[in-house]
Amino acid sequence: ATSRIAVIAGDGIGPEVIEPAIQVVDAVIRKFGGGTLEWNRLPWSSAYYKQTGHIVPSDGWETLAKHDAILLGAVGSPDVPETVTVHGLLLPMRRKFDQYVNLRPAYLYDGVPSPLKNKAPGSIDMIVYRENTEGEYAPVGGRLYEGTAADIAIQTAVFTRRGCERIIRAAFEAARKRPRKKLTSITKSNALPFGMVLWDDVFNSVKKEYPDVQAGSLLVDAAAMDFVRKPEVFDVVVASNLFGDILTDLSAMVTGSVGLASSANINPERTFPSMFEPVHGSAPDIAGKGIANPLAAILSTALMLDHLTMTAAADAIRAAVAAVLKEGKVMSPDLGGTASTTQVAEAVMAAI
Ligand code: NAI
Ligand code: MG
Repeated sequence: ATSRIAVIAGDGIGPEVIEPAIQVVDAVIRKFGGGTLEWNRLPWSSAYYKQTGHIVPSDGWETLAKHDAILLGAVGSPDVPETVTVHGLLLPMRRKFDQYVNLRPAYLYDGVPSPLKNKAPGSIDMIVYRENTEGEYAPVGGRLYEGTAADIAIQTAVFTRRGCERIIRAAFEAARKRPRKKLTSITKSNALPFGMVLWDDVFNSVKKEYPDVQAGSLLVDAAAMDFVRKPEVFDVVVASNLFGDILTDLSAMVTGSVGLASSANINPERTFPSMFEPVHGSAPDIAGKGIANPLAAILSTALMLDHLTMTAAADAIRAAVAAVLKEGKVMSPDLGGTASTTQVAEAVMAAI
């Protein structure tokens, strides 16, 4: 079967990491088969916005809906407001396509130094299930008297029983399938007594259906500490939109670099396409230099192939990345090496 993939490479290092990632997928499919992919490249980006006045054309969401998956690089430019890029494309996509599961694995690969001392390869092996459609990122609020001394901003978080329940349930299902069968829920219910307490209530009631899963709760500040102090205790972690966002930059760093952090934005019902993207942004500080680490994007394509049930190809990509890192000869600067984006991608293709 042929799957149609919409590609939004976006801004900054987005295109620099997405094109090599596509080459890796094409190489893995040539070798392992399992299906064919048709790449449909969409130019939506800050440059496109500057030319046309919009980042997504009027029929854009309909166009995207006709695809089996979306592969995204990153959006965001210093010279274009985030209201256009992040709030015009990225966040509405997650909501419109009901991609309520944002899963973000963090694994300490052999050959990659953690900034934490004495961590054995594989000792950090967690997956964060981040709620992706509501919570603190709900577009609810307003601004009054902007720029005056009376300036007021109201930013409202929205937690619904349905929204909490579906992400918590997805996390329990994931925990049940992993060897350690452990789930940690992260909230801040001592200080945020409405939304976060609803979340806790739902967590405690869903927990009863999963007696085989070792389930516990942590406050986010304690969790931030433990992500650094003893990240190996985490298996599956479930968190709200904001907390999941922040904690996954932390889990990326303790496993080496944000340049290795992959993510999937899943609509489990498959009513809409799911979206796959590296956790990192457009990295304007290194854009155009050809030194961005493409492995986060490459590992994100493996999550995409999992979703398309092309499992052999997905596993082959992960194995090739692990082999390149273990060998340690071709490492990008974020991992302490000197290799270019292209050299890293070529090493992965050679390993395949
Ligand atoms: P960022 O993730 O783009 O960069 C943070 C730091 O990590 C920078 O020092 C950067 O050089 C480094 N870095 C990121 N990816 C790397 C890679 N693949 N290899 C090596 N080093 C890498 O976050 P920042 O600077 O806060 O945001 C830049 C822009 O990206 C903003 O406009 C932001 O809104 C946007 N953004 C977009 C996201 C998306 O499209 N999903 C996600 C996060 C940020
Ligand atoms: Mg983030």
